[in-house]
Amino acid sequence: MSSNPHESKGSSLFTKEFTTNPFPTYAGLRETNPMYRCVFPDGQSGWMVTRYEDAVKAFKEARLIKDRSMIAGISEHQSVFTQNMLFSDPPDHKRLRGLVQKSFTPRLVEEMRGRIQEITDELLKELKGREHIHLIDEFAFPLPIIVICEILGVPAEDRDKFRLWSTSLIEGRNGEYANDMQQHMKDFIHYLKFMFEKLRDTPGSDLISQLIVSEEDGDTLTEGELYGVVTLLIIAGHETTVNLIGNTVLALLEHPEQLELLRNQPELIHSAIEESLRYNGPVEFSTSRWAREDFDFRGTRFKKGEMIIVALSSTNRDSMEFDHPNEFDITKEKSPHLAFGKGIHMCLGAPLARLEGEIAIRSLLKHFPLMKLDVDRNDLEWRPGMIVRGVKEIPLSVRE
Ligand code: HEM
Repeated sequence: MSSNPHESKGSSLFTKEFTTNPFPTYAGLRETNPMYRCVFPDGQSGWMVTRYEDAVKAFKEARLIKDRSMIAGISEHQSVFTQNMLFSDPPDHKRLRGLVQKSFTPRLVEEMRGRIQEITDELLKELKGREHIHLIDEFAFPLPIIVICEILGVPAEDRDKFRLWSTSLIEGRNGEYANDMQQHMKDFIHYLKFMFEKLRDTPGSDLISQLIVSEEDGDTLTEGELYGVVTLLIIAGHETTVNLIGNTVLALLEHPEQLELLRNQPELIHSAIEESLRYNGPVEFSTSRWAREDFDFRGTRFKKGEMIIVALSSTNRDSMEFDHPNEFDITKEKSPHLAFGKGIHMCLGAPLARLEGEIAIRSLLKHFPLMKLDVDRNDLEWRPGMIVRGVKEIPLSVRE
């Protein structure tokens, strides 16, 4: 029995219309049913937090934990894909995050600016002279994956494999690879095993080599955690930024006056990316949190073992926090959006994602100032699955 009188029956909320435009539904929930009990697309039932203020509290609530196996009565085989900071609680969380944090500080990321610009220019050069392009396939996808591969020390030529494996994992049972998911997981692990052996023999200055040294020391990282951290970085490194680029282009094309403003004032790029993260961010839901015990949370009784998920896309349009939340305004000076989460699990890759987004959009506008959607906005296909929010492809006309 739910302790909420408004429990949804089945998963009817998650229709195709909802995926295409969830914002009116979220507005209704924030108003009448802000802590919404429902069955999520992955089949699990739990609470969806839709209001900004509740979400901030949830992100900081120590009784909402990430590692489900810590809740007595639930014994769960922990897959290597969850042996990382995103699915850990203190003190393990701090140790795991600390090992990679130093490679992602804003200062170190800033030092990558030149290389990110170079990769961007190379990708755009390939598209020179074309009249039509596939923005996702030919630009938004390769850019972040080449960057994360270089940071990690894995060959970017294998990016199509990473794409298959991570799409399979992220889209899960609603995705097009649902039947092959197990095999893809095995292939991913097998590939990394080979990679780790190679880097163990001939370490470089890359992040994986550094992590292997920590693992060999024995007290900072287990072998399972090595797999867990690397798979998380590969998946997080390209399931998200690709949609930041895609969603920003869509928002700009839908708001020609904002696009014009950005063309005339390229220095607005920073606030444009922040506004895009708020207006139509690339991550729709937080990952799951679990109630460690029974407790009252802002008027709702959470029972031990229940799942809680924050609807980031909803919190970022909450009128209690943002003025005119449904308007896209790239001149806003400050935006306390939750697109990167908050609290101890706040996105580790945020400085990198922001920099990639800024370079990508600025360069794209410079090369293709007259870009136009090649299809009707309503014909774009939004990706299934629970976490990412983005379209499969954006066909563009880029005649100069
Ligand atoms: C965590 C969003 C890009 C690595 C998170 C979380 C969000 C998020 C919302 C917190 C999830 C939760 O608390 O349940 C995004 C967005 C991105 C992006 C919107 C792009 C625009 C990246 C990139 C990387 C990355 C490029 C790595 C290269 C991580 C890691 C965590 C994380 C490692 C876990 C942090 C922890 O648990 O301490 N991200 N992310 N992300 N993200 Fe990102």
